[in-house]
Amino acid sequence: MNIAVVGCGAIAKTRHAPGVAEHPKAVLYAVCDPVRENADALAEAYHTKAAYKIEDVLGDPKVDAVIICTPERFHCANVVAALEAGKDVLCEKPLAMTPLEGRAILDAQKASGRLLMVAFGQRLSPGHQLAKRLLEEGAIGKPLAFRTALAHAGVEYATIEGPSPDFYDKKLAGIGDVMLSVGCHRMDLMPYLLGGKIKAVSALLPTIDKTYADGRPIDAADHAMITMELDNGISGMAWISWCDYGQPERSTVIYGTQGVMTVCRSPEVTVERRDRRTERYDAASSPGEWQLPTRHFIDVLAGDALPICSGSDGQDCLLALEAAKRSHQQGRRVELAELSGLDRKLSTGQFGKE
Ligand SMILES: NC(=O)c1ccc[n+]([C@@H]2O[C@H](COP(=O)([O-])OP(=O)(O)OC[C@H]3O[C@@H](n4cnc5c(N)ncnc54)[C@H](O)[C@@H]3O)[C@@H](O)[C@H]2O)c1
Repeated sequence: MNIAVVGCGAIAKTRHAPGVAEHPKAVLYAVCDPVRENADALAEAYHTKAAYKIEDVLGDPKVDAVIICTPERFHCANVVAALEAGKDVLCEKPLAMTPLEGRAILDAQKASGRLLMVAFGQRLSPGHQLAKRLLEEGAIGKPLAFRTALAHAGVEYATIEGPSPDFYDKKLAGIGDVMLSVGCHRMDLMPYLLGGKIKAVSALLPTIDKTYADGRPIDAADHAMITMELDNGISGMAWISWCDYGQPERSTVIYGTQGVMTVCRSPEVTVERRDRRTERYDAASSPGEWQLPTRHFIDVLAGDALPICSGSDGQDCLLALEAAKRSHQQGRRVELAELSGLDRKLSTGQFGKE
């Protein structure tokens, strides 16, 4: 099958282009980016063709599927256009910027009948897959509560352009805030690991360190403290930050009736049981771990796997992010039931009246 990668920045370069090129059932047919040098560099590295407009990729009947790796602000328009052109789509996380955009994508997906998946790669990481299996086997008894952290030095260190004094002046509008960029992973992962859906969220979303070039704080959260209540009775806290200037933080601790599970780096999973026995597990990581979402997408297209993360999972996450935003703005706990129909209401043009 022929796959095109749209957006030739850091994630395309390190994960999706190699992920497609290395899969025996796929061909990296084209790469596309309005910044010609980004498209040309990736095309040259993989001996494939470069396009500079998404229309050229979507209009090519030889393209079966596309992977959207553009900044967040462009996900909605690109995913909808790709679905309408009859292509199967893997979209980098998050699915879009808002539930309104997410709904437009789900409507386009339904009308097109094409496959839509979201690259929430943390679901697929060997440590999290192992943790999920151990939880299901009752390794810590009944899960009761959790705390999870995902923090690094800022999105400017992760993109193709790299840090600069005016990074947020130029890029913030395309990225959103720390919750869209980083927190979405944990708002997606925790319900997935613990087998529930988010029922309510309380959030503090301050701006603690990132600035524009002139020294003013950016107009978006760069740090977040969240509590999540799941509909299965489990609740927990998430610590999310762009302002962790030490080693990136990515641990999750789950407390159960029979022990405590820690998911981290090697050993990926540790279980301390109530009887004080400790067991350490190393998941079998492979060198291509970063390419797992790409590989999984192609496996699903080939009929060799079932999708692990659908468009509606992506929309659930956007609704939880919206609840977090409202919680911070209104200084209260927000139930997701309050947002029921919000995306439908918004998509019929009532956004301004909210
Ligand atoms: N799964 C993960 O853990 C993970 C990690 C990093 C980034 N991401 C996601 O990947 C996406 C891209 O991030 P990145 O770090 O590669 O960013 P980046 O800034 O390095 O690259 C983005 C690229 O998209 C191009 N682009 C901009 N608008 C475009 C458009 N309309 N059509 C086509 N290309 C366009 C830019 O020129 C740039 O080359 C974001 O959604 C980000 O959240 C995911």
